Amino acid sequence: MAFAQRTATCGELRLSDVGREVTLNGWAHKVRDLGGVLFVDLRDRNGLIQLVLDPTVHQDLDTIRTESCLSVTGIVQARDDSVKNPRLPTGEIEIIVQSWQLLGPSKPLPFQLSDEEHMQQVNEELRVKHRYLDLRRPSMYQRLSVRASVIRRMRAFLDAERFVEIETPVLTRSTPGGARDYLVPHRLEPGLWYALPQSPQQYKQLLMVAGVERYYQIAKCFRDESSRADRQPEFTQLDIEMSFITQEDILSLIEAMTLSVMNGVIDEFSLDKEQATSFPRMTYDYAMQYYGCDKPDIRFGLPLFDISSLVTNSGFGVFKNAVEGGGAVKGVRYPGGSQLSRSEVGKLEEFCKGLGVKGLASVAVVAPGTENSIDLGDGRAAKANIARFFAIDELKAIFDQAGAEIGDLLCMVADVRDTCDAVLYRLRLEIGDRLGLRDPRKLAFLWVTDFPLVEWNADAGQWSSMHHPFTMPHEEDLPLMETDPKAIRAQAYDMVCNGYEVAGGSIRINDASIQARMFALLGINEETQQTQFGHLLEAFSYGAPPHGGIAPGIDRLIMLLTDTENIREVIAFPKLAGGGDPMMGAPSSVDSQQWAEMGLRRA
Ligand code: AMO
Ligand code: AMP
Repeated sequence: MAFAQRTATCGELRLSDVGREVTLNGWAHKVRDLGGVLFVDLRDRNGLIQLVLDPTVHQDLDTIRTESCLSVTGIVQARDDSVKNPRLPTGEIEIIVQSWQLLGPSKPLPFQLSDEEHMQQVNEELRVKHRYLDLRRPSMYQRLSVRASVIRRMRAFLDAERFVEIETPVLTRSTPGGARDYLVPHRLEPGLWYALPQSPQQYKQLLMVAGVERYYQIAKCFRDESSRADRQPEFTQLDIEMSFITQEDILSLIEAMTLSVMNGVIDEFSLDKEQATSFPRMTYDYAMQYYGCDKPDIRFGLPLFDISSLVTNSGFGVFKNAVEGGGAVKGVRYPGGSQLSRSEVGKLEEFCKGLGVKGLASVAVVAPGTENSIDLGDGRAAKANIARFFAIDELKAIFDQAGAEIGDLLCMVADVRDTCDAVLYRLRLEIGDRLGLRDPRKLAFLWVTDFPLVEWNADAGQWSSMHHPFTMPHEEDLPLMETDPKAIRAQAYDMVCNGYEVAGGSIRINDASIQARMFALLGINEETQQTQFGHLLEAFSYGAPPHGGIAPGIDRLIMLLTDTENIREVIAFPKLAGGGDPMMGAPSSVDSQQWAEMGLRRA
């Protein structure tokens, strides 16, 4: 089709262009008919500009519908002061159209694209089914651009650090552990299956044996697990592995890369974001103790407090019994929470019960003299139904441990330690949300280090690795492998930001005897070692260098930069919660011949 090609883009024109004749190509973002004169916001990927079409000059103006694709030629003209639009960079001017051409007419739309606020109400399945329309929205295009910029900057940083980008296979073999694999039948040998990689973990370690020393890959990973807001069955990692390095080398390099990438993107897109110049570090044990989780949101304080040792002789049976039974009593401060009504506190308790604890014990910290309060004699008083079960010294000790300030509601739970942590982790975030402490402008990165090597898998009745079986224990903890596995710390680390795990990695085992002890600990017998990991073990017997790596999840980094808690918003063509892609109609049935070729029979 012959068409007038653009001489300018929609977003670039300004007052200084008045009088110019320009040709623009784009889409009719909004069409308004004001008494016959047609006003059209024309959109291309650079922005919007208003067109004016006079019905006495032009024919067939009714064919210009929202989202039709147009080429227009006209003269840039200044708008009258009364009709300037300060919200648009091109709001001081408009184009008086002289000629136009309909390049692609548009049917009525399944949903309106021009009204960002109203997008919240549009059914997500409809958006994903017509993703090519959804992606026309400037906010979606910006997300894709941010994503491209992040990846471009990662490559630039690592290339400058002499890393080499290597592709590893997508058709590979199934290995145990981790999530469920996606399987692909092998046509030439019916009964045999490829698996799609959950990550290129083994290949990148083999590349270290191969002497590559510094590898990276923008790697698609596949995990057949139910999707969640921050999880997709198919997602992208920046996969990295290095030889002849220590944990410290990896953390400092990845920290420098993340700072450079994030700051670069923040500047490029003028994002309203700020981040610290270095990442704090905390051990896994510290994170669990003070935040109840291994991915703390440190944009705000309110660390958990532990009063287990203070309530062993308490008159409050709930606390005393929990500690006697080997559990714990922990809590979190809710600043301003002393003002909550009885029913609001009741709702908070229901919230906690929903997370698996039997109740929530709460004590308001009030000024002495407040009605029905118990004066602690130190400028604070306690107010609660349960306060009378406690001695004054006990209340004082609890207040001190909590760092209680007047106005706080101390929220405490008694249970096995894991349950206390799991509940208070959520409650702390809930309090942070209510108080507006989770500032979306802040990027609060940190490192969590020294993860446990193994965790007890009660269902299987054995230890399983917390990261993967090739993760190196701390050298000084090696003797614990046969005596106290739970206490072994791994040389494993996560990068966390705003409550998300954004990267995970470890130093790997490159010593055959340590690997053998690890397999023994995990209950993986000789035969399984050979069938599942024989190739890796053999490779490691030919001069394996000390090595380690990490894999930042790219989708999650983009979520943080573009203020969304829905991972689907940062992926061009995402899968919906059930794993399907309604646009392509994937997954789909295949014809009988394809079944037969694969040697498969329908169930
Ligand atoms: P891990 O399994 O911790 O480590 O994954 C690394 C990072 O990938 C991201 N991620 C996901 N993102 C979206 N959807 C998912 N389903 C998903 N699963 C994980 C997270 C996570 O931190 N091979 C090791 C890395 C290594 O040891 O070097 C690995 O895959 O941001
Ligand atoms: P009860 O003895 O069940 O009437 O509970 C007395 C108070 O303790 C109530 O305020 C309960 O919500 C609270 N409570 C009960 N179980 C727990 C628990 N496991 N942790 C914290 N508070 C609890």
